[in-house]
Amino acid sequence: MQPFLLLFLSSVTAASPLTALDKRQQATLCEQYGYWSGNGYEVNNNNWGKDSASGGHQCTYVDSSSSSGVAWHTTWQWEGGQNQVKSFANCGLQVPKGRTISSISNLQTSISWSYSNTNIRANVAYDLFTAADPNHATSSGDYELMIWLARFGDVYPIGSSQGHVNVAGQDWELWTGFNGNMRVYSFVAPSPRNSFSANVKDFFNYLQSNQGFPASSQYLLIFQAGTEPFTGGETTLTVNNYSARVA
Ligand SMILES: *[C@@H]1O[C@H](CO)[C@@H](O)[C@H](O)[C@H]1NC(C)=O
Repeated sequence: MQPFLLLFLSSVTAASPLTALDKRQQATLCEQYGYWSGNGYEVNNNNWGKDSASGGHQCTYVDSSSSSGVAWHTTWQWEGGQNQVKSFANCGLQVPKGRTISSISNLQTSISWSYSNTNIRANVAYDLFTAADPNHATSSGDYELMIWLARFGDVYPIGSSQGHVNVAGQDWELWTGFNGNMRVYSFVAPSPRNSFSANVKDFFNYLQSNQGFPASSQYLLIFQAGTEPFTGGETTLTVNNYSARVA
């Protein structure tokens, strides 16, 4: 085995100049809160719930970035703590401060992604927090809007189902409930949407009209997309391109 491995490594070195390697991978994040930012975006390994696992690991990689989007992937394996979220590795837009939801006309975003092994218990989801205090910590808010593009295994959003709704031209099951004092709204796709493009303002408009969401007094804190693993064997979420803007 060893001579073969050495041969493999030397052929890679010979074939790939350093610039090509740099372009292929901009950051490797294996620390619990390993963080990268660039081009108006940020990526966080965010293993916030790892202590509820009996074993496992996760690293997140920034593959390429520009002002029009980020390519990244995250590899994980988690055991134990069956119904506890282990992490939210994500890429987020660095959102402008001091913008209420009603002052924003456009939250256009697109994402294309794939999971290498879907025999897992995890979601792929957008996560947006808002709060009446524009300087609220960005780890929570008064309100949380989640858009679940996929749900693998028997995992569920917080609260209870309100039935199906049509928002941004697509069908979703809406769930709502509380995480502590934070009101959580989760729009769940009935089957995986590997390629998604929408103006997320449509979701806030829906909540304002139908759920009493106070858009004029809530400031946008984060605009992220990533994955929440509960449990599963080695797997990789690859995001080919995530883009978002606030206008
Ligand atoms: C990523 O998506 C944005 C928005 O659709 C697009 O402008 C950009 O060209 C895409 N980047 C790549 C590398 O495909």
